[in-house]
Amino acid sequence: MELEGAVAVVTGASSGFGELTAKRLAKRGATVVLAARRVERLEAVADQIGSRGGRSLVVGCDVTSLADLQELRDRVDEAFGRCDVLVNNAGVAGGGSLESLSPSTIERVVRVNVLGVMLCTRVFLPMMLERSRGHIVNVASLAGRFATPGASVYGATKHAVVAFSEALYYELRPRGIRVTSVNPGFARTEGFPQTHVPRLLVMRADRVARAIVRAIENDRAPEVNVPRGLGPLEAFRVLTPPLYRWGVRTVSRRLPGTRA
Ligand SMILES: NC(=O)c1ccc[n+]([C@@H]2O[C@H](COP(=O)([O-])OP(=O)(O)OC[C@H]3O[C@@H](n4cnc5c(N)ncnc54)[C@H](OP(=O)(O)O)[C@@H]3O)[C@@H](O)[C@H]2O)c1
Repeated sequence: MELEGAVAVVTGASSGFGELTAKRLAKRGATVVLAARRVERLEAVADQIGSRGGRSLVVGCDVTSLADLQELRDRVDEAFGRCDVLVNNAGVAGGGSLESLSPSTIERVVRVNVLGVMLCTRVFLPMMLERSRGHIVNVASLAGRFATPGASVYGATKHAVVAFSEALYYELRPRGIRVTSVNPGFARTEGFPQTHVPRLLVMRADRVARAIVRAIENDRAPEVNVPRGLGPLEAFRVLTPPLYRWGVRTVSRRLPGTRA
């Protein structure tokens, strides 16, 4: 997709991947709608985009609220009459053993990471279908491809996002809409400090933003892993499950507290 002149909505644009993705999209000529709960942070991002000649609109929005999502859609409709790109990026960490997570934490993680993505997509879909054009990017995680100890709830939410994205990809491709799940590995951000992860495994957050923008520009779907090249690990898991599980048990003993 050509980003010059496109309208792109990014949830979770107040920090991390969302902020960096919004800035990159604006740099490529898109008008960016910045959505998250911390409006003052969004305004700071909008100022930075504006100072570089970019265009943006700030909308305060909690993705767990259907009313907020509908309001977001209405604001986009009023201002631009269309949505070409939707980046469902808002998400929260929810790592830790299951017994260490309170039921309310589990519920919040599922509501933000799963329901937030599904409802936001559902709310924007008619606008995209009307024009038979658009790209939906859902930020999942490598935790959505590989189940690891200490990430039962978080990993389950991201597996859900990967499955949702792939099913939608088949549903919407014939109707002109691309759907991609972008699956990042470890990156240090506000919500994901990755303090227990060896530095070698932690990438710069901007690498993920670059991958998201490239996926949109190059029509890449239904899945993009960042870093790429996890094919051999996937093959290992599918072809030799016992050996793969032995590997996960061994590695996870050495990487306590891994999250993403
Ligand atoms: N960093 C990693 O290693 C990593 C790896 C794989 C996947 N991911 C995924 O990448 C995405 C972005 O995370 P990040 O690393 O960039 O973390 P981050 O810097 O903590 O950003 C999270 C964003 O989500 C927003 N958010 C959280 N709850 C929200 C809600 N209820 N409604 C609206 N927005 C909400 C936050 O904004 P407000 O607080 O202002 O609402 C913030 O902008 C998440 O989906 C995460 O699961 C991260």
